[in-house]
Amino acid sequence: MGKFVVGNWKMYKTQQQAGEFIESFAKSVRADDPSDSWVGLAVPFTLIGQMHSLCRDFNCPLHIGAQNMHSAEQGAFTGEIALEMLLEQGAQFAILGHSERRRHFLEDDAFINLKVKRALSRKFRAIVCIGDTKEQQQEGRAIKVLHDQLDKTLAGISQEEAALLMIAYEPVWAIGTGQIASPDLIEKAHRECRSWLLKRFPDQAIPLLYGGSVTEANAAEIRSIDQVDGILVGGGSLSAQEFAVLKNHFFK
Ligand code: PGA
Repeated sequence: MGKFVVGNWKMYKTQQQAGEFIESFAKSVRADDPSDSWVGLAVPFTLIGQMHSLCRDFNCPLHIGAQNMHSAEQGAFTGEIALEMLLEQGAQFAILGHSERRRHFLEDDAFINLKVKRALSRKFRAIVCIGDTKEQQQEGRAIKVLHDQLDKTLAGISQEEAALLMIAYEPVWAIGTGQIASPDLIEKAHRECRSWLLKRFPDQAIPLLYGGSVTEANAAEIRSIDQVDGILVGGGSLSAQEFAVLKNHFFK
């Protein structure tokens, strides 16, 4: 299995700031990054086309993706975006079911499942986010919650389609708070998700990413945790220098 580092810019950055980021990040790309490493950056819709061209111009091996998409091909869904529109801009993947989408926009597992089906049926890479709340963890329900989210968001996905899946485990309470989950907890959650994935999709090696307050200070430690194939990084992906250092620590 390769190593995966994915940034999530959320609702940050203008076109000018995105240009400055790529110019700086492109300089940090090392010739000795492992050949099976994969770096993605999920940006606002308005930046996908520009970032895609900039990566080509600067010879920057970043995969540019979206942070969400609708499940329908097209339709009267004010404010939403369709997969075809993302493809036209050069998007190479989408994050689906991020906890901020679940919390602020009331996305549920059934809706996320429709999005995942749509993405995979068009051979478009989907990074599906799952995660437990502090309360669920304290009540000892975290693993059940994760299994339930996997059951529901990945219902009806075939073995072949699962080849383009990645799963991001992000404890809700660790996102944007500076409170990273302990290595033990991360390992336990990843082990449980791995065994679920192996049972359900035995033919596929599906990358499992950890997300929630990953910084350059803890990236190397997270890398050493068993069953962690990658990281999903919010705040730490906004600065080109920090994202580059973080990537280098994770790929080391
Ligand atoms: P954070 O966000 O790295 O800022 O905690 C992670 C995420 O939202 O995926």
